[in-house]
Formats: sequence, C-alpha cells, structure tokens
Amino acid sequence: MVDKCSCQTAPGSGAMKNYAEEINHLKKEKNAVVLAHYYTRPEVQEVADFIGDSLALSEKAASTDADMIVFAGVHFMGETAKVLSPEKKVLLPDPEAGCSLAESCPAGEFSKFKACYPDHVVISYVNTTVEVKALTDICCTSTNALKIVQSVPAERGIVFAPDRNLGDYIKRVTGRENMVLWDGACHVHEKFSVEKILELKKEHPGAKVLAHPECKAPVLLVSDFVGSTAAILKFTETDDSMEYIVVTESGILHEMRKANPNKTFIPAPPIDSTCGCNDCEYMKMVSLEKIYKCLLDESPEITIPEDIRQQAEGSIRTMLELSK
Ligand code: 13P
Ligand code: SF4
Repeated sequence: MVDKCSCQTAPGSGAMKNYAEEINHLKKEKNAVVLAHYYTRPEVQEVADFIGDSLALSEKAASTDADMIVFAGVHFMGETAKVLSPEKKVLLPDPEAGCSLAESCPAGEFSKFKACYPDHVVISYVNTTVEVKALTDICCTSTNALKIVQSVPAERGIVFAPDRNLGDYIKRVTGRENMVLWDGACHVHEKFSVEKILELKKEHPGAKVLAHPECKAPVLLVSDFVGSTAAILKFTETDDSMEYIVVTESGILHEMRKANPNKTFIPAPPIDSTCGCNDCEYMKMVSLEKIYKCLLDESPEITIPEDIRQQAEGSIRTMLELSK
C-alpha cells in the first residue's frame, strides 16, 4: 500500500535511518549491491548503490561483480537481472511488486499473436515477463526503443509489444507503417490527462512539459519533451528553463530535485487525482524494511527455469549490443 506519495516526501528524509545503516552493513558483509529504479521511494533511492532507468539497470546487472543483487524495483526487472547474471543471487524485496504493463501481455496469448506474423521481427519492451522475452528477438527499453526499431531493415515487419503507446509513438516518429502493436498499457501512465496538464500550464505558463512515451498520444502531443526517465532527467540538467511539469511516475522527482536544486518540478496529476501526483503502487511496495529483511534472509529470490532463461537471454544481450 502507498502510505505517502513521493512528491510529498522530503529529499534526504531521515525516516527509518536505522534500516539504512543496517542495509549498508549487510551490503558490505555479503558483497551485495542494491539497484533501484527512479520510481522507487526517495529513502530507497538513498540506500541504492546505483539508481537508473530500465536500460541502465540492466547494464548494471550485467556488469556488477557483486555476489548478490537486491533489485529495488518490480518483478520483471529482477528477472532481467537474473537472466543476465544467473550465477548471482538476485533478490526482490517484495515478490508481489508486479507491473500492469507486463501483465497486459500473457506469454500464451502473445505466442499465438506472434504466430500470425511469422516473418516479422519481434521487439518487446523490457516491461515483460521472462516468458515473453523468450519469444522475443530483440528487447528494448524506452531509452533505446527508437534505435532498436531503426536497426531492423525498413522492409521487415515488426511485432512490437506490449506497450501500445510507446509503439504508437515510435511509429509516428519513424513513419514506419509495418509495425504491428500488441494492445497493452501501463495503468499509471495511461491515467495522465491533457486537461489537467493544460490547467497546470495555465498556472505555470513558463513551465516545460516533460512526458514519458508510455503516456497516451494526446498527452505526448502537448509535451515539450518526450523521453525515458533517464532522458527526462538529463533534459532537466541541460535545459535552461527553471520550471517543469513532469508527466511520469512521481518517484523521478526525487532525483530531479537533487540534480537541480534551484529548479521547480511539478508532478502532473492523474485524472482521478487525490494527492496531486501519480504513483506506481508496485514500485512503492519496496520499502527499507523489506530491503533489510531480504538482505538478512537472502530471500525472496528470483529463480528462472534454465531453458527459459537461455531463450530470453539472447533478446536482452542483442539489445545491450545494439544500444552501445
Ligand atoms: P524507463 O525506466 O525505461 O524509463 O521505463 C519506465 C517504466 O515504466 C519502468 O517501469
Ligand atoms: Fe509497470 Fe507502469 Fe509501474 Fe512501470 S509504472 S512498473 S510500467 S505499472
């Protein structure tokens, strides 16, 4: 359950300080690293050895020399780390931390869909289960989706899954008509509304609107910049505006505020807003207490049948190669 939304949690909050100390101690003792996605709670990001977007986290999981990886994120991210580092113990602080986007693409149905397009290259977003990755030719993230799609010869058809909004965005940018989209979406990003963004724009006329490509097309059309979490963050570090309306999960605001202490970041509210920001309840399931307990117990651990792991690995390794 989300008990406090990230836009209201002060950066560097000292809450649960003892857990942070215990976690740091256990990390050293067990040669473990904590990898955290930008959407996790601020205090979780503070204990992480590395914070990043989906692409950077996969790269880190592939290259770390730690014996143990604690994935402060959702299930598919832990799976990706395990696929890339099968010899390491990969722990997920809350095994219930799923993803509506990954769930919108069950492997059995996707396999039938794929069979309708036998000559197409299958590109799947990293937000998928390991079983879907095993059916995939090349994985992608929101950071490299454009590059990955462009790496496929123009005459080859593409099956793109599971995010219809990211797929539709890439189709519009590339003008590529031979892309067939799976009809999936992220419930957090689909909840942003143009109306609410335009209301905020009236209150903050100088603010730039930054949106994640998992948002619907009308939202992207009123945005000044569209990019992955890492790309949005980088944009704020190089752009000279002082105010931004941020249209993605609110956890990213923590890193944005830290990197740009003099700038103002306004979270865009979801259509059914009660608190003003838009949280992913799965990402917010990860707490300091759960990280501490999973490091202590070395559980819950991600395990993947070896045949599925091997089938999925090629798609992720091809992506990492192509995004160099
Ligand atoms: P990125 O980390 O690629 O920006 O994706 C966001 C996301 O929805 C992760 O769940
Ligand atoms: Fe999945 Fe959306 Fe949450 Fe990302 S924000 S983990 S895509 S449900």
